[in-house]
Amino acid sequence: MRKSTLFAAAAALAVGAVTATGAHAQDGDAANGEKLSKRCIACHTFEKGGARKVGPNLWNIMDRGVAASEDFNYSDGLTAAAEKVESWDDEAMMAYLEDTTAWLREVTGDSGVRSKMTFKLPKEEDRRDVIAYMKTLSEGS
Ligand code: HEC
Repeated sequence: MRKSTLFAAAAALAVGAVTATGAHAQDGDAANGEKLSKRCIACHTFEKGGARKVGPNLWNIMDRGVAASEDFNYSDGLTAAAEKVESWDDEAMMAYLEDTTAWLREVTGDSGVRSKMTFKLPKEEDRRDVIAYMKTLSEGS
């Protein structure tokens, strides 16, 4: 009971944060997002079947579940977040890329968790563009 109340509060917070920044990832520029993704490739591959590096492969990331890459050892925080958030929708991804640890803490309600991803995309427009690019990385597009 207590756990679900905490989660409801965290979810409300997350929704509030997204509304305040006016996040609409569907407006993103995928071509610019592909350029921005060069900042990610030190740690991630984007192609289908790509290897894990410091971070998991990101093919089909916008459709698959949170922390769902089978060959990657995720942090406790992201593993716990996966029980609360089913998939990477625009809102979740916008908040995650802005500050991964803050998002994990909000979603899990656990201020002790820390993301393994020590990289942020502070500019809202950049995040929108990268998300638009990641949406192109699936079988359906
Ligand atoms: C310095 C290395 C590093 C960089 C740079 C980096 N990441 Fe990550 N990323 C990680 C690690 C490590 C994880 C696993 C996080 C965890 O387990 O807490 C991760 C996790 C993720 C996840 C969650 C994956 C899943 O399976 O749920 C997404 C999405 C993501 N990164 C996107 C990006 C994007 C987009 C960029 C570039 C804008 C980026 N990352 C840049 C290291 C990095």
